[in-house]
Amino acid sequence: MNMTTGVETLLDRVDVEAVADALADQGWVVLPALLPLDQVRELRKQAQAQWDAGEFHAAGIGRGQELNVNESIRTDQVQWLERAASGALADYQHFIEDLRQNLNRLLYLGLFEFEAHFAVYPPGAFYKRHLDNFRGTSARLVTAVLYLNEDWRESDCGQLRFYTDGSDGGEYIDIFPHAGTLVLFRSARFWHEVMPARRERFSMTGWLRERGNTF
Ligand code: OGA
Ligand code: MN
Repeated sequence: MNMTTGVETLLDRVDVEAVADALADQGWVVLPALLPLDQVRELRKQAQAQWDAGEFHAAGIGRGQELNVNESIRTDQVQWLERAASGALADYQHFIEDLRQNLNRLLYLGLFEFEAHFAVYPPGAFYKRHLDNFRGTSARLVTAVLYLNEDWRESDCGQLRFYTDGSDGGEYIDIFPHAGTLVLFRSARFWHEVMPARRERFSMTGWLRERGNTF
């Protein structure tokens, strides 16, 4: 609850201790419909406007000086986000900040900051099997993927194929990119891939990072 306005916040919609336990024990958790539809729509509209204006660019592997565009690995397009002052993006960023502090308090993770981008996968686009933090080479500790697609059907494909046993292949679950669903996982532990979709697929991917490394 926001103490000044009495309005429900995103944090009220989450059992933070259960999320922390899941991240500590199994290393990942899926929160279906975390974001209310009006907030999903606002974020989608913002991403859509930037997409329509041609502001996205081919996604790289890494960031900054390490940026490396490799179309055999991923063919999505991204737009990095700045801190928002108000609206759905600001609400989401506040939620992530609350989550960051709670995870540090409960799990001593040393999460220091959050970086995020919108991503669009045009029909047929993919991101092959990868780790977000390969052998601890980046500061990314926890990945947060939020989906912005209303009326997504399993026949649209585009699922996140998430390898639950921590191996490169092996047992997996498929997570479809339904509006408002948030997936959290330990960035260095889980191989995952984005399967090609039949429709444009919008998401926001972010990482809680430790202090230090630049990418
Ligand atoms: C990523 C990623 C997953 C998804 O951006 O690193 O794996 O489902 N995204 O969009
Ligand atoms: Mn990834």
